[in-house]
Amino acid sequence: MLDNYAVFGNPVEHSKSPDIHTAFAEANNENISYKRQQIDIGIFDKAAHNFFESGGKGLNVTVPFKLDAYNFAEKLTKRAKIAGAVNTLSLRNDGKILGDTTDGIGITRDIVDNLGWIINGKKVLMLGAGGAVRGILQPILELLPYNVVIANRTIEKALTLSKKFADMGYLLGCDFQMLDGQQFDVVINGTSATLSNKIPPLPRGLFSKNAVCYDMMYGSQQSIFLEWAKNNGAAQVSDGLGMLVEQAAESFYIWRGIRPETRTVISMLKKQI
Ligand code: ATR
Repeated sequence: MLDNYAVFGNPVEHSKSPDIHTAFAEANNENISYKRQQIDIGIFDKAAHNFFESGGKGLNVTVPFKLDAYNFAEKLTKRAKIAGAVNTLSLRNDGKILGDTTDGIGITRDIVDNLGWIINGKKVLMLGAGGAVRGILQPILELLPYNVVIANRTIEKALTLSKKFADMGYLLGCDFQMLDGQQFDVVINGTSATLSNKIPPLPRGLFSKNAVCYDMMYGSQQSIFLEWAKNNGAAQVSDGLGMLVEQAAESFYIWRGIRPETRTVISMLKKQI
C-alpha cells in the first residue's frame, strides 16, 4: 500500500511540492503518493485531522497555514519552536503529530552548498520581518555572520524580531531609509513584495564589492527585485527555487529517513519554469 503525503495551502495549485517529492520518491524507489490539497481558510485543523485519521503519514504546509500547523502539532521540534512556524507535520510511531520546519535548513543548504556563498563573517541584510524572515533567522545566525540587519517597511516588526533573536547573534532592526549609506555582503529578500511585483524602496549603493543577493521567492521570470539588484551592483543573484527543493528534501528525510539528491531536481524544475 502507498504511504500518503500532501501539501496543504491556499492557493496551492502552483505548488511544485508534488513534482519534487515524486521525483525524490522515484529516484529512491520509495512508494509514496503526494497530492496538493487546497484548504479553505478556517478549516485547517479539521482537514489535517481528517488527513491523519484516514491514514495520512505526513503533510507539508504552506501559506497561509504555517501558524495553524504550529498550533495543530502535538509535539514541536526545537527549530520549529524558535521559528514559530511549522511546514512539515508527521505521524510519529507513538501516534502523536510532530511539527517541524525545514525552511531554515532549506535556505542555508541552497546558499552554502549549492551556490557556494559565504555567510561567515559577512554583513547580512534581511529585508522583511514577517514569518518568512523569522523562519530563517536562527539557521542564518548559526553560520556566524558579522552581523544581521533586519530592515522592514514597518520598523516596529524589525525591532521586535531583532530583540527576540538577540541572544543568538549581533542583530539590528531598522526601516528602509535607515539603510542609506550602509553596505552589505549578503542581501536576502524575505518580503512578499515580489509577489505583487514590487521592490521595497531601497537606497542605492547597498551592495559591497562581490555582494550576493537572494530572493526567497521564485517564479517563471526573474524577479524584479533580482533585476534591480543586478542593476545596482550585486555580483551574483539567486531566486528561491533551490531553497524550495532543499526544504522538500529535508521533509522527505524526516518522513522516509532518506536524504535525496537535489541537484537533478533543481535542474529539472529550472527547465520546466
Ligand atoms: P510571510 O509569512 O511571507 O513573511 P508576512 O508575515 O505577511 O508574510 O510578511 C510579509 C513581509 O513582507 C512583511 O515584512 C511586509 O512588511 P510590513 O511588515 O511592513 O507589512 C513585507 N512587505 C509586503 N509587501 C511589501 C512591499 N510592497 N514593500 C515592502 N515590504 C513589503
